[in-house]
Amino acid sequence: MKSIDRDLVELSDLAPEAIRTLLHRADQMRTQQVPLWRDSVRHVGLIFAEPSTRTSLSFIAAIDRLGAYPLQLDAENSSFSKGETLLDTASTLESIGAESIVVRDGNEMSARSLADQCDAGVINAGGGTRAHPTQGLLDALTLLDEFGDLEGKTVGIVGDVLRSRVARSDIVAFQALGARVVLVAPDYFQDKTLSEAGVELESKLDDALPHLDAIQMLRIQKERGDGDPENNLQNYVRDYRLDERRLALARPSLVVLHPGPMNREVEITSGVADGPRSRIRQQVANGVPVRMAVLERALGQASG
Ligand code: CP
Repeated sequence: MKSIDRDLVELSDLAPEAIRTLLHRADQMRTQQVPLWRDSVRHVGLIFAEPSTRTSLSFIAAIDRLGAYPLQLDAENSSFSKGETLLDTASTLESIGAESIVVRDGNEMSARSLADQCDAGVINAGGGTRAHPTQGLLDALTLLDEFGDLEGKTVGIVGDVLRSRVARSDIVAFQALGARVVLVAPDYFQDKTLSEAGVELESKLDDALPHLDAIQMLRIQKERGDGDPENNLQNYVRDYRLDERRLALARPSLVVLHPGPMNREVEITSGVADGPRSRIRQQVANGVPVRMAVLERALGQASG
């Protein structure tokens, strides 16, 4: 029977100490002699049933740096597109040799279901609106790089919280490191149930900004339909877009995150996204060591 410690479905499955351990290992991975597994042949299956740039490519880079081999499914040109189930697809990858399965799917329970049924260590690369655990880890690593410690720090997560799997995973990761989390959103993008997770809810960005040490700007997820403020977009931009004028309300030390992909000029201006307070490129770079650490855990210790 597989150790469930190999799966990463949601960060809330992990104790705060386990999250810290993964982040410490990710930090070590940046200077680790690679490849780790040059004397063994280890395969990782990747199933991306939703589009991805950063997550999929940084998993590939992480697999390469570890010395493993990717079995990468092109969802549109595979038997997945003929109706083969996700479980049959994962089982096929396992039969070919995958010891870990990385999965992104619109169904928020797909990764959990595969984790329950596969021998391979299953890593959720983004499931519905519920969880994106490796994004939460890389965002936390980016803030640790900046501050050393998140105890006593306040992080704002701003925008389309309702449909954001990033927000849900960030909350768990940031709180595990001792940060206070404030969700800033208009009513139509707020998720009031998250107040049960110990976060604060705020509707006015201009009021919240002066109190923040870091801010994560979320993408408006037009592809997820409900809740899109089509006819309020101008009001949204007026009240929530992070631009240089609004940035002047913040502490000079505030750092700006965005998980990507960005809707430039909607939730964030190019001036801010590409400006000196932006850590967006660091977030992407941190995706590689974080995914190396998560893959190492999913595959278990190297045999070679
Ligand atoms: N942040 C993120 O998940 O980006 P991709 O959709 O490009 O992987």
